[in-house]
Amino acid sequence: PNGPAPELGSLAALAGVSPASALRIAQLPRDFRWGAATSGYQIEGAVAEDGRGPSVWDTFCRVPGAIDNGDIGDLACDHYHRMPEDVALIKELDLDVYRFSVAWPRVQPGGRGPANAAGLDFYERLVDALLEAGVDPWPTLFHWDTPQELEDAGGWPNRDTAYRFADYAELVYNRFGDRVRTWTTLNEPSVVTTHGYLGGVHAPGRTSLADAAAAAHHQLLGHGLAGQRMRELAASAGNDFKLAVTLNLGPATPASDTPEDLDAVRRADAMNNRMYLDPLWYKRYPTDLIADLEAEGVSIPVQDGDLEIIGAPIDSLGVNFYFGQQLSGRTEDGATHDAQGRPVSRHVLQGLPQTHMGWEIMPHDFASLLIRVGREYPGVPVYITENGAAFDDKPDETGYVHDADRVGYIADHLAAVAEAREQGTDIQGYFVWSLLDNFEWAFGFDKRFGIIRVDFETFKRTPKLSARWFTETLRQVRAGS
Ligand code: NOJ
Repeated sequence: PNGPAPELGSLAALAGVSPASALRIAQLPRDFRWGAATSGYQIEGAVAEDGRGPSVWDTFCRVPGAIDNGDIGDLACDHYHRMPEDVALIKELDLDVYRFSVAWPRVQPGGRGPANAAGLDFYERLVDALLEAGVDPWPTLFHWDTPQELEDAGGWPNRDTAYRFADYAELVYNRFGDRVRTWTTLNEPSVVTTHGYLGGVHAPGRTSLADAAAAAHHQLLGHGLAGQRMRELAASAGNDFKLAVTLNLGPATPASDTPEDLDAVRRADAMNNRMYLDPLWYKRYPTDLIADLEAEGVSIPVQDGDLEIIGAPIDSLGVNFYFGQQLSGRTEDGATHDAQGRPVSRHVLQGLPQTHMGWEIMPHDFASLLIRVGREYPGVPVYITENGAAFDDKPDETGYVHDADRVGYIADHLAAVAEAREQGTDIQGYFVWSLLDNFEWAFGFDKRFGIIRVDFETFKRTPKLSARWFTETLRQVRAGS
């Protein structure tokens, strides 16, 4: 590890990657796995084709004011019709793995009952095209697009949705389970919980703590039931696969070491991180979280046996990371409780550079988070299933974007991954979010995360500098140079 600094690749130099980050990235192992990620609703379009049913996001996009600029994901990147072109780009980028999500309402339009064969055909064609291109398919079963009919029947706060999710997983598994090495059940359940059912800023736009607590538990139960079902199917078919779940872990630091600031951090950690990690690892919900919820008259609807199902072993943990937060337990006026008597939690900016999302850039918090995960939740390899940044890209007349800012972000976060590996966390791969500029949920199309630019009028794809640099970097690491 203490050899001479490696030569910066020509693109790294062009993008101004820091020598310290380049040095660390060069320490990643030759068999490190490099990928890019997307999700169904964010890229596919074709929302009313081939028997797809509506999801909560189709509905939510039509709520006035819900999405910036009134954007709607109906067309998105038109990936549904351009899938072969996108797979060709993935191949050109020389990625090892591609992470995508299967849209539940394409496979089961109403969230229950028999499969819609045309929906499964699409994902089977995608899987086969990836394999043909030498790229490992890494599907996620749930990336937020709950079938609207299931939401109408109560959505994730309704326990039945967890059982429906396992049935849906079976349909997908039966179609191409023999060709997938890693299955991810859920993507970022805590965002569905806090944005979808508590804050109301994501579909389905509900605002109830009781619903949020139930939605969290039933997503985890759905993960456990789907995993159990797929393991049984694999065993009887003589197959094997790795089971994973992807969490967005939000590291928080206190604005000062006063008891109320420390407690704001504790509460955020309980609600965003430990609420998922503890049942998955240790088959229990954190006692402080249970007490916080009880103070609001809410309990998590756990039934006998649920935690055994949720805590069954997984084979890897997916971590999504974008930013950390500094929190204070006081308002700017110094109050520790709001008008309803709830403890205050206030995000305090640290004056760091920000992405176009307004998120402060803090790769150091990423390294600390990964080191903590390795220590407190050990035993399985970690994959960074999402990391990346939106910037206000300025394309030239050909559509090319010289996104040195995005390259810098990714490089510094890859360096954090290398640092955490050095400190003992077994991180085996990294997926950049995202392959394509796409529909950034409530922010619409204005926030561009892609390493490939998408012109949303013509759907033309143009790889950015970041795409070229990513390929150059992964090739150098692979070659050990
Ligand atoms: C995480 C989500 O999984 C993804 O859908 C989203 O676009 C990115 N964060 C960026 O916000």
